[in-house]
Formats: sequence, structure tokens, C-alpha cells
Amino acid sequence: MDEKMINALNSQVNAELYSSYLYLSMESYFESEDMGGFGNWMRVQAQEELAHAMKIYDFIIQRGAKVTLTRIDSPPTEWKSPVNVFEHVYSHEQKVTELINQLVNLAISLGDHATNNFLQWFVSEQVEEEESSGTVLKKVKMANESLNALLMLDNELSQRVYNPPTTKTNI
Ligand code: FEO
Repeated sequence: MDEKMINALNSQVNAELYSSYLYLSMESYFESEDMGGFGNWMRVQAQEELAHAMKIYDFIIQRGAKVTLTRIDSPPTEWKSPVNVFEHVYSHEQKVTELINQLVNLAISLGDHATNNFLQWFVSEQVEEEESSGTVLKKVKMANESLNALLMLDNELSQRVYNPPTTKTNI
């Protein structure tokens, strides 16, 4: 693999680990507010992000390159409200989509079809990530000041279950 591609994929491992860290911090926020269902949604999200990082980690090795781990930034630890948290999740996922698009652009510019093909899984995944976080954001906004509605949503989000990707490299 081209050095530029290796470096960019290594940066994405860091970005996915940061995402996992961010969602764990959001889980902690919700747990401290006694909203365990929201916390569960974040735990599942954090597990997904760790799996994303490992998928790229494994791909770098599979291509005969070296994974280089770097410092992970500290995530925020406080938010103003559940709406504020999900606004953050949604905008964060939009940023991740942009990062994935940039990786695809780089793979294409280098004629690296294998990496481009690998990254298509992430292109699809980001559509789902933006949809799922956008849907919860809409629901939290609708619930807004109603404690009853928030409790119902908390119960709904407590049902989310983590489904690990089935293979190391794709699908
Ligand atoms: Fe790994 Fe939520 O993007």
C-alpha cells in the first residue's frame, strides 16, 4: 500500500477509537443522569466504533502494512441535555462520513482498488449511522421537556443490542 494510504487508514483507526471513547463518555453522562436506556444505546454505539477500528486495524495488517497507534484525545464529559448529546452524536457522525469520503477519494486517486472496495462497507455503514442517530435526535427533540416521553424513550433505547460484524474484513 502507498504510504499516504497507510497513514490515512492509521488515522482512521484513531478516529474510530475516539468515537468509541466519545460514546462511552456519553454513556457515563446518561448513567449519571439515571437514564440507563440512553446509556445502553451509547454502550452499543461504543462497541460498534471499536469494531470499526478493529476492521481497519485488521485490513492494514492484511495488506502487509503496520498499524501505528497514537494518542486518543479526551472526549467531552458534560452536556447540557439529552437533545444536546444527540445533536453532538449526529454532527459527529457527519464528520466521520466526511473522513470516510476523504479516504475513498485518496484510494481512488492512488488507484488502490482493494482499499476502495474495503471502504465501501464504511460508506454504507455511515448511511446507517447518520440515519439511526438522526432518528433518535428527532425523537429526543419531540420528547424534550416531557418527563413521561423521555422515560418512554429511555425504555425504548434500553432494547438496543450489539450485533458484532460477522467477519474480520467485510460485510
Ligand atoms: Fe465508525 Fe459511527 O462511525
